Amino acid sequence: MTKKITVTENGPYLVEGGVPIAHQHIVTNAEGESLEWREGAAVAAPAKYALCRCGRSGTKPFCDGTHKRIGFDGTETASHEPYERQAGVIDGPAMVLEDAEGLCAFARFCDPHGQVWNLVQKSDPRSLKLVEHEAGHCPGGRLVAKHRATGAAVEPHFEPSIGLIQDTAQGTSGPLWVRGGLPVTGADGRPYEVRNRVALCRCGASSNKPYCDGSHASIRFNDKE
Ligand code: FES
Repeated sequence: MTKKITVTENGPYLVEGGVPIAHQHIVTNAEGESLEWREGAAVAAPAKYALCRCGRSGTKPFCDGTHKRIGFDGTETASHEPYERQAGVIDGPAMVLEDAEGLCAFARFCDPHGQVWNLVQKSDPRSLKLVEHEAGHCPGGRLVAKHRATGAAVEPHFEPSIGLIQDTAQGTSGPLWVRGGLPVTGADGRPYEVRNRVALCRCGASSNKPYCDGSHASIRFNDKE
């Protein structure tokens, strides 16, 4: 069965094809800066399952039907435009950084070492490695780093999988981290661009559904491992 995700109208995400799920923790330093991802416990799931999108299920991460009782409004407002058309471009001497701010999932990997937007203006090997690291760790795919000479994007390798983001430093759980090119189709049947990294809202509060807009941090969404 093809691995895929379908957004349902005012309801959950239907996930098909035996997609693995695991908790994914943001690892921070003493200053609270995001440095790495740490994979947590896997969540047992059948080949086909429904993941809560309203944030109120009693059996998170799965849907238990609560969305109907609370009258969840899951209206999709996100653009279907390809990333390249949504993103601005920050030119550096050796690398190029693409940035689609509306896809920010507030994971903050872009902040350490003086911020990725400044690092990309440099040409020393350490700064360039940091650009690759910080852009590639961005779960929502807001940031993409490319080599200027070849135009090749630097992407981490992911098997098709779903992460349940945990942001302990901020005291919140985060979005669904959809990795490895899993196709996502809207409730109206229109596909979103297939990408290596996207973050889907699961707290119910995003104003850019189905994508995360960082609202989980302000409501302290809680689905801890
Ligand atoms: S989407 Fe069904 S309970 Fe949240």
